[in-house]
Amino acid sequence: MLLTLTPKTLSSSSSFSFPLPKSQNPKPPNPSRFNPISVKSQLQTERGLEFDPGETFFRHESATGRDLAVLSATLHKRSTKTLRVLDAMCGCGIRSLRYLVESNADFVVANDANDSNRRVITENLSRFIERGEGEERRWVVTHVLANKAMIERYMVGEFLDLIDVDSFGSDSAFLRDAFNAVRLGGLLYLTSTDGYSSGGHRPYNSLAAYGAFIRPMPFGNEIGLRMLIGGAVREAALLGYHVTPLFSYYSYHGPVFRVMLRVHRGKLHEDRNYGFVTFCHLCGHSDIIRWDELGLIGCHCSDTKASSSLVVSGPMWLGPLHDGSYVNEMLDLAKEWGWVSEGVGMDLEKLLSIMIEESDPRLPPGYFKMDEMASRAKMNSPSLKKMMSALVKEGYAVSRSHIISNGLKTDCPMSQFIKIAKDELQK
Ligand SMILES: C[S@@+](CC[C@H](N)C(=O)[O-])C[C@H]1O[C@@H](n2cnc3c(N)ncnc32)[C@H](O)[C@@H]1O
Ligand SMILES: [Zn+2]
Repeated sequence: MLLTLTPKTLSSSSSFSFPLPKSQNPKPPNPSRFNPISVKSQLQTERGLEFDPGETFFRHESATGRDLAVLSATLHKRSTKTLRVLDAMCGCGIRSLRYLVESNADFVVANDANDSNRRVITENLSRFIERGEGEERRWVVTHVLANKAMIERYMVGEFLDLIDVDSFGSDSAFLRDAFNAVRLGGLLYLTSTDGYSSGGHRPYNSLAAYGAFIRPMPFGNEIGLRMLIGGAVREAALLGYHVTPLFSYYSYHGPVFRVMLRVHRGKLHEDRNYGFVTFCHLCGHSDIIRWDELGLIGCHCSDTKASSSLVVSGPMWLGPLHDGSYVNEMLDLAKEWGWVSEGVGMDLEKLLSIMIEESDPRLPPGYFKMDEMASRAKMNSPSLKKMMSALVKEGYAVSRSHIISNGLKTDCPMSQFIKIAKDELQK
């Protein structure tokens, strides 16, 4: 069959119509690779929607990651009037269901390589939304590898507004296909669960997956988000696009690193937000290094350049973790839907508010942990609140961190941070 490749920019928003070929993929040789945790079949409820996780991989703890995605998808639908989604690793289909019902998606491809999930996915979606036929078709269930699902959309010019890849480990092999299949101005929701790489314990793994050599640093969980965004920045540039992170979310269950990226046309001539992060084990100072400063690496606490106390990680994303005005819109929507003030754990309102603080462009990568600062300076630490107002009084940018409750993000150097903390304690 002759396929005509439609340029992305000419993509129509008509509903999905290309018949999917029957999967040529053999059954996964090792089913446990696709189902590392089995959950007994039992009806569950998320945001009022009842569904059956069956024997699929399902984590209740990922609900916040799904809430954030649904808020983003809904903002996209409201502003562009179109929402066509590929849920590339859908498990039991809970995300597909939520995109359809809560975000009012026009069309969702619910794909999971494991075809024994089919019955559960189909029943979960049918319970709320009729599948529909032809132009009216709202969803389809497929069982191909995620890459293939994306390539198929690209080949027929059926570009997607949102591609959600809820993968295990640091699987970045789908990035290129995702960029090819997403519409310009569309969204990519990426996941990594590789805490070893972000912690700097597998630098050659992170190098292979994201092109970033990661060393241990005290703020490894933020590095994990920056490494993931950085990998996407590099892949986007290769294809002539650039990306901006709309929000980045770390969750300790797993751990899981998630980023929602917007894909834009044109690669940036010079990306000031893609470079290296240093950390000095001697004095605790952290800094950013651009490509043209690589030969100047050193810490001001040491006489010699490139002192042995200094570790360097990167390249990775150096810019803000979130787009503050976008997260504000997410917060407004969460309020509109009554998803705030729920009073359980880190509720959504608190999370989004901290993300808004974190998106201050003056804040460099990383955070100071108050207990680490205290042990370095051999003193107690003042409360976060007192420290924050003291830093602001001194003219520094400061915010809480959504990653760690006793951490502060600031552009204040460690030596000055300790001095301000000491002054606070003496008050
Ligand atoms: C983390 S689970 C998905 C959970 C689901 N998104 C949710 O929110 O509950 C990952 C799923 O990806 C599927 N999977 C693993 N590798 C895949 C691949 N290369 N292509 C498509 N699906 C894959 C597994 O069968 C598993 O159901
Ligand atoms: Zn130093």
